[in-house]
Amino acid sequence: MKIWVYPGSFDPITNGHLDIIDRATKLCDKLIVAVLVNHSKNPVFTLDERVELLKCALKDKPKVEIESFSGLLVDFMKKKNASSIIKGLRAVSDFEYELQMALLNKNLDPEIETMFMMTNINYSFLSSSAVRELAKNGGNIDGLVPDCIKETILTKYKATGEVK
Ligand code: PNS
Repeated sequence: MKIWVYPGSFDPITNGHLDIIDRATKLCDKLIVAVLVNHSKNPVFTLDERVELLKCALKDKPKVEIESFSGLLVDFMKKKNASSIIKGLRAVSDFEYELQMALLNKNLDPEIETMFMMTNINYSFLSSSAVRELAKNGGNIDGLVPDCIKETILTKYKATGEVK
Protein backbone atom coordinates (compact mmCIF):
# COMPACT_ATOMS: atom_id res chain seq x y z
CA MET A 1 0.00 0.00 0.00
CA LYS A 2 1.41 3.33 -1.10
CA ILE A 3 1.06 5.72 1.85
CA TRP A 4 2.16 9.30 1.32
CA VAL A 5 2.28 12.25 3.72
CA TYR A 6 1.47 15.86 2.95
CA PRO A 7 2.91 17.83 5.89
CA GLY A 8 2.36 21.45 6.77
CA SER A 9 1.09 24.02 9.21
CA PHE A 10 -2.20 24.54 7.33
CA ASP A 11 -2.77 27.88 9.06
CA PRO A 12 -5.32 27.71 7.40
CA ILE A 13 -5.70 25.24 4.50
CA THR A 14 -6.05 27.05 1.15
CA ASN A 15 -7.31 26.02 -2.28
CA GLY A 16 -3.64 25.67 -3.27
CA HIS A 17 -3.20 22.93 -0.64
CA LEU A 18 -6.48 21.37 -1.75
CA ASP A 19 -5.28 21.21 -5.35
CA ILE A 20 -2.07 19.37 -4.33
CA ILE A 21 -4.14 16.99 -2.16
CA ASP A 22 -6.52 16.19 -5.03
CA ARG A 23 -3.68 15.53 -7.46
CA ALA A 24 -1.60 13.52 -4.97
CA THR A 25 -4.48 11.23 -4.02
CA LYS A 26 -4.65 10.09 -7.64
CA LEU A 27 -1.09 8.74 -7.33
CA CYS A 28 -1.14 7.00 -3.94
CA ASP A 29 -3.41 4.65 -1.98
CA LYS A 30 -3.62 6.77 1.15
CA LEU A 31 -2.64 10.39 1.78
CA ILE A 32 -2.06 11.50 5.34
CA VAL A 33 -2.42 15.24 5.73
CA ALA A 34 -0.09 15.81 8.68
CA VAL A 35 -0.48 19.00 10.70
CA LEU A 36 2.55 20.14 12.66
CA VAL A 37 1.64 20.69 16.34
CA ASN A 38 4.43 22.87 17.68
CA HIS A 39 5.54 25.40 15.18
CA SER A 40 8.11 28.15 15.43
CA LYS A 41 5.82 30.22 13.17
CA ASN A 42 3.30 30.57 16.05
CA PRO A 43 0.13 29.68 14.15
CA VAL A 44 -2.86 32.01 14.30
CA PHE A 45 -5.27 29.08 14.33
CA THR A 46 -4.91 26.58 17.19
CA LEU A 47 -4.15 22.97 16.36
CA ASP A 48 -7.77 22.02 17.02
CA GLU A 49 -9.00 24.81 14.75
CA ARG A 50 -6.60 23.86 11.95
CA VAL A 51 -7.69 20.22 12.18
CA GLU A 52 -11.39 21.20 12.18
CA LEU A 53 -10.86 23.35 9.07
CA LEU A 54 -9.08 20.44 7.37
CA LYS A 55 -11.87 18.03 8.33
CA CYS A 56 -14.44 20.32 6.78
CA ALA A 57 -12.41 20.93 3.61
CA LEU A 58 -11.51 17.25 3.12
CA LYS A 59 -14.71 15.56 4.25
CA ASP A 60 -15.53 13.93 0.90
CA LYS A 61 -12.11 12.44 0.25
CA PRO A 62 -12.02 8.78 1.29
CA LYS A 63 -8.29 8.31 0.61
CA VAL A 64 -7.33 11.21 2.88
CA GLU A 65 -6.61 10.97 6.61
CA ILE A 66 -5.90 13.94 8.84
CA GLU A 67 -3.35 13.54 11.63
CA SER A 68 -1.29 15.85 13.77
CA PHE A 69 2.35 15.28 14.63
CA SER A 70 5.12 16.77 16.70
CA GLY A 71 8.84 16.09 16.50
CA LEU A 72 10.48 14.92 13.32
CA LEU A 73 8.43 14.23 10.22
CA VAL A 74 10.49 11.12 9.37
CA ASP A 75 9.68 9.60 12.79
CA PHE A 76 5.97 10.22 12.23
CA MET A 77 6.27 8.66 8.78
CA LYS A 78 7.94 5.52 10.15
CA LYS A 79 5.08 5.11 12.64
CA LYS A 80 2.58 5.39 9.80
CA ASN A 81 4.49 3.16 7.34
CA ALA A 82 4.54 6.06 4.91
CA SER A 83 7.06 6.05 2.05
CA SER A 84 6.94 9.53 0.54
CA ILE A 85 6.51 13.16 1.44
CA ILE A 86 4.60 15.25 -1.07
CA LYS A 87 5.09 19.03 -1.21
CA GLY A 88 3.86 21.76 -3.52
CA LEU A 89 6.24 24.20 -5.19
CA ARG A 90 4.91 27.60 -6.19
CA ALA A 91 7.93 29.56 -7.28
CA VAL A 92 11.71 29.53 -7.24
CA SER A 93 11.48 31.24 -3.85
CA ASP A 94 10.06 28.02 -2.35
CA PHE A 95 12.87 25.92 -3.76
CA GLU A 96 15.76 26.71 -1.44
CA TYR A 97 13.83 25.95 1.75
CA GLU A 98 12.22 22.84 0.28
CA LEU A 99 15.55 21.53 -1.02
CA GLN A 100 17.06 21.90 2.45
CA MET A 101 14.11 20.10 4.06
CA ALA A 102 14.20 17.30 1.49
CA LEU A 103 17.96 16.79 1.96
CA LEU A 104 17.70 16.90 5.75
CA ASN A 105 14.93 14.33 5.67
CA LYS A 106 16.90 12.16 3.22
CA ASN A 107 19.87 12.33 5.55
CA LEU A 108 17.70 11.27 8.48
CA ASP A 109 16.05 8.43 6.57
CA PRO A 110 17.36 7.46 3.11
CA GLU A 111 14.31 5.27 2.51
CA ILE A 112 11.97 8.25 2.45
CA GLU A 113 11.50 10.20 -0.77
CA THR A 114 10.31 13.79 -1.04
CA MET A 115 8.29 14.50 -4.15
CA PHE A 116 7.28 17.89 -5.49
CA MET A 117 4.31 18.98 -7.50
CA MET A 118 4.24 22.28 -9.30
CA THR A 119 1.40 24.42 -8.10
CA ASN A 120 -1.63 24.96 -10.26
CA ILE A 121 -0.91 28.28 -12.00
CA ASN A 122 -4.20 29.66 -10.64
CA TYR A 123 -2.87 29.34 -7.09
CA SER A 124 0.77 30.28 -7.64
CA PHE A 125 0.24 33.55 -5.74
CA LEU A 126 -1.66 31.94 -2.87
CA SER A 127 -0.39 31.19 0.64
CA SER A 128 -1.90 30.76 4.09
CA SER A 129 -0.21 33.99 5.18
CA ALA A 130 -1.84 35.88 2.28
CA VAL A 131 -5.24 34.50 3.30
CA ARG A 132 -4.63 35.57 6.91
CA GLU A 133 -3.58 39.06 5.81
CA LEU A 134 -6.69 39.45 3.65
CA ALA A 135 -9.04 38.12 6.34
CA LYS A 136 -7.49 40.39 8.95
CA ASN A 137 -7.92 43.47 6.79
CA GLY A 138 -11.41 42.76 5.51
CA GLY A 139 -10.28 41.59 2.04
CA ASN A 140 -12.14 39.11 -0.11
CA ILE A 141 -11.03 35.49 0.33
CA ASP A 142 -13.62 33.96 -2.05
CA GLY A 143 -12.03 31.31 -4.24
CA LEU A 144 -8.86 31.24 -2.14
CA VAL A 145 -10.05 28.81 0.53
CA PRO A 146 -12.69 26.06 0.47
CA ASP A 147 -16.17 27.61 0.75
CA CYS A 148 -17.08 25.63 3.87
CA ILE A 149 -14.28 27.21 5.93
CA LYS A 150 -14.53 30.78 4.71
CA GLU A 151 -16.87 32.02 7.43
CA THR A 152 -14.86 30.33 10.20
CA ILE A 153 -11.73 32.14 9.05
CA LEU A 154 -13.45 35.52 8.85
CA THR A 155 -15.18 34.97 12.20
CA LYS A 156 -11.84 34.20 13.86
CA TYR A 157 -10.58 37.66 13.01
CA LYS A 158 -13.87 39.34 13.92
CA ALA A 159 -13.75 37.57 17.29
CA THR A 160 -10.24 38.85 17.99
CA GLY A 161 -11.28 42.35 16.91
CA GLU A 162 -8.52 42.39 14.32
CA VAL A 163 -10.65 43.17 11.26
CA LYS A 164 -9.89 46.68 10.07
O1 PNS B 1 3.46 24.54 5.91
P1 PNS B 1 4.89 24.66 6.35
O2 PNS B 1 4.99 25.57 7.55
O3 PNS B 1 5.82 25.05 5.25
O4 PNS B 1 5.33 23.19 6.82
C1 PNS B 1 6.62 22.94 7.32
C2 PNS B 1 6.75 21.47 7.79
C3 PNS B 1 5.68 21.10 8.79
C4 PNS B 1 6.65 20.56 6.58
C5 PNS B 1 8.18 21.33 8.40
O5 PNS B 1 8.38 22.36 9.33
C6 PNS B 1 8.41 19.99 9.11
O6 PNS B 1 8.46 18.96 8.48
N1 PNS B 1 8.56 20.04 10.45
C7 PNS B 1 8.77 18.87 11.29
C8 PNS B 1 10.19 18.82 11.85
C9 PNS B 1 11.13 18.17 10.86
O7 PNS B 1 11.04 16.98 10.63
N2 PNS B 1 12.02 18.99 10.22
C10 PNS B 1 12.84 18.54 9.12
C11 PNS B 1 14.22 18.12 9.50
S1 PNS B 1 15.09 19.25 10.54
